[in-house]
Amino acid sequence: MQPVRKAVLPAAGLGTRFLPVTKSIPKEMLPLVDKPAIQYVVEEAVQAGISDVLVITGRGKGAIEDHFDRNVELEQVLERSGKTAILEEVQATDRLAHVHFIRQHEALGLGHAVAVAEPHVGGEPFVVMLGDDIMVDDATLLTRMLDVHAETGGSVLALMEVTPEEISAYGALTGEPVREGVMRARGVVEKPKPEEAPSNLAVIGRYVFTPGIFDALRETEPGVGGEIQLTDAIGILLEREPVFGVVFSEGRYDAGKKVDFLRANIELGLARDDLRDEIEQMLRTLVRARGLT
Ligand code: UTP
Repeated sequence: MQPVRKAVLPAAGLGTRFLPVTKSIPKEMLPLVDKPAIQYVVEEAVQAGISDVLVITGRGKGAIEDHFDRNVELEQVLERSGKTAILEEVQATDRLAHVHFIRQHEALGLGHAVAVAEPHVGGEPFVVMLGDDIMVDDATLLTRMLDVHAETGGSVLALMEVTPEEISAYGALTGEPVREGVMRARGVVEKPKPEEAPSNLAVIGRYVFTPGIFDALRETEPGVGGEIQLTDAIGILLEREPVFGVVFSEGRYDAGKKVDFLRANIELGLARDDLRDEIEQMLRTLVRARGLT
């Protein structure tokens, strides 16, 4: 069995749900405390043992490339002023992983963005990670998914139980349990109406794919919203190869939703020794001032 060595991070979307900030700043570069969202995703890949990362970018996404590149001028200034700790943090960013970039020339959909990765990942299994899903779980979910792939050789989707109202924002999966927390996938429907959803299991933004996904993507016609949907390609793939699902338990923020994005900022700040006390104080003041107790 070939080990999984590469991760693909699609980041070429237009980020319309976060306008106006995303007019000029890539959604993936919005900060969670003091790191851009995409850095958490790269760190998660590295934690799961993957250090070759391909970011799919597009027009206006140059800041992502700059972030994972060296900034020699900045390093010199920090060095001269003796700011060693922050210098180390800045240098750690570009040393984190081997980060590569390919452009998706037109935002034709997530499936299309993944197809753009084919020359880079070649005939190997690979991981797809979406920056909207920020996992704060020490890469537990991704590691479980890689374990299921190693055991079965099949593609593996990350799943989450949601309410009927929420399912229409996701792809919904049908299948049967293989064991606790692991499903064999039989079908998937993109953004179903609540009354038509085949299950309450939503596909979230972590995937392990065999190269078979590229053939499936080639055969995928534009779907919901006129976009080439990854979900539709998965539907084709699971007719041909075994596809599994791993049900996720905890540690996810939906950074594509404004309120969850703010929650992530607060909770990630609370997890930091240098910020916890001040944030707790701020929250107490806020709760009192708004009469929320
Ligand atoms: P989303 O639909 O959540 O992201 O796509 P978006 O299009 O940027 O955001 P909204 O809906 O307009 O607010 C899921 C992921 O797929 C990438 C996005 O960057 C995001 O990481 N994507 C989407 C692409 O890379 N290319 C596309 O053509 C579409």
